[in-house]
Amino acid sequence: MKVGVHKGDPKSLEIKSAVVFVYENDFKTLSRLGRGISTKVKRALELEGFKGKEGQIERIPLPRQRVEIVYVVGLGDKKKVNTDTFRRVSALAIKRIKRDKVEKVLFVLPRGTKNKPFQAVAEGVVLGSYSFDKYKEKKEEERFEVKEVLIQDVDKEAVNRGVVIAEAQNYARDLVNEPGNVINPITLAEEAKKLAKEHKLQCKVYDEKQIQDMEMLALWSVGKGSATPPRLIHLTYKPKGKAKDRIVLVGKGLTFDSGGLNIKPGDYMRTMKMDKSGACAVLGIMKVIAQLKPNVEVHGIIGAAENMPSGTAYRPDDIIRAKNGKHIEIDNTDAEGRVTLADVLSYASELKPSRIIDMATLTGACMVALGEYTAGLFTNSEDFAEEIKEVAKETGERVWELPMDDDRLRKKIKKGPADVVNTGGRYGGAITAAMFLEEFVGEGIKWVHLDIAGPAWSKEDYGYYTQGGTGFGVRTCVEYIMRLDK
Ligand code: BES
Ligand code: MN
Ligand code: ZN
Repeated sequence: MKVGVHKGDPKSLEIKSAVVFVYENDFKTLSRLGRGISTKVKRALELEGFKGKEGQIERIPLPRQRVEIVYVVGLGDKKKVNTDTFRRVSALAIKRIKRDKVEKVLFVLPRGTKNKPFQAVAEGVVLGSYSFDKYKEKKEEERFEVKEVLIQDVDKEAVNRGVVIAEAQNYARDLVNEPGNVINPITLAEEAKKLAKEHKLQCKVYDEKQIQDMEMLALWSVGKGSATPPRLIHLTYKPKGKAKDRIVLVGKGLTFDSGGLNIKPGDYMRTMKMDKSGACAVLGIMKVIAQLKPNVEVHGIIGAAENMPSGTAYRPDDIIRAKNGKHIEIDNTDAEGRVTLADVLSYASELKPSRIIDMATLTGACMVALGEYTAGLFTNSEDFAEEIKEVAKETGERVWELPMDDDRLRKKIKKGPADVVNTGGRYGGAITAAMFLEEFVGEGIKWVHLDIAGPAWSKEDYGYYTQGGTGFGVRTCVEYIMRLDK
């Protein structure tokens, strides 16, 4: 699908279908198609009782007119509309257009719409066209793709940027949706190498032997029960000129989480192929950064492992020395994400970045606290957290900060024979997990941890998401990094 821009009079365009966005009870956008069409459409809308509530779509055929079909799409109450509304509604529009087998369409936005919504419309269109059906035999008529979307009078650069970002988010979704028999630590590392080659990034992969030589025994322990050994993946983007900053993105890459010896019950094990979502988001972000080329040095680091029960698996009671010298006691092998990330965060800290963002499907407790659609945000730096929260509002990725200052709660991971234990009990489980991670972040580095256990996976189709992996985290991290270059 091509997403482009059309400038000037829409009447000059040979196009049979148009999508027109209107606010609730305010259909002024229609006049952009000319008086004649506008009057006819408004009359039809009145007959249908169309109000323009968010996501409401009305298809109006116009026999013997230049534009034969107008889709009027509601944005909802003008006072409540934000950037993400444009993203969601554009996705719903493209899903409908696809279903109706329209090949070429013009999108018309309300007058006075700004740059960010332009980008969001492009993102919505690309995200909304996504499907993961490579393992399904498709009938001829199911194979339809929209060929071209033109957006009326918008900034070309904003649209192109939206397309690049959304395509990378779809790439992340594809990877998340691949099952554990296809993506394991080794094939994930191969994918990273392929990405690096395509986009001229540096890529270094460390195998299980090198991981042990580097004293990353926490990462190694988590992976050692699997027939497929763990990998540490390190992608680097360096700008041509002098970098304004250096940032590291860390992703949890559990290609499958069975729980290990503390094996999960069947119902909970289902969908655990998505436990690599943080890693997939990191790959998506690196893909965008390589194309948008900001003057910022960006590292993407992934701890890839498969958590399996076996005779070589790590066990409850094990005490493991992590890369930074701290000892971890294993209480529960199913709390493997934090053990993996302990070493990855230590490794990341040695690069001496100003900031680290980690993304991890870390705890079910975070979903209990915030619901499935919001990521937990944890930090050692209030101003860094504020920046991310501000960006996330723009990108429509919901985040909510949970507190890290409860020293009584912190004591729960500081029990037992080692420096830290890998669980902190039932209450505040997302917070104690984050506190555990904090033990491995280097002195003076600003750090934000996003627990994406909920929003990384969607149980249903909603807005620009379809059932499955969402690619959550790509848009926010990209936007944040691009702002570091301003
Ligand atoms: N990968 C899971 C967390 C998870 C749960 C992600 C549901 C997405 C959906 C993680 O490794 C895990 O198993 N966490 C345990 C921790 C517990 C043993 C302390 C959990 O949340 O139950
Ligand atoms: Mn687990
Ligand atoms: Zn896990």
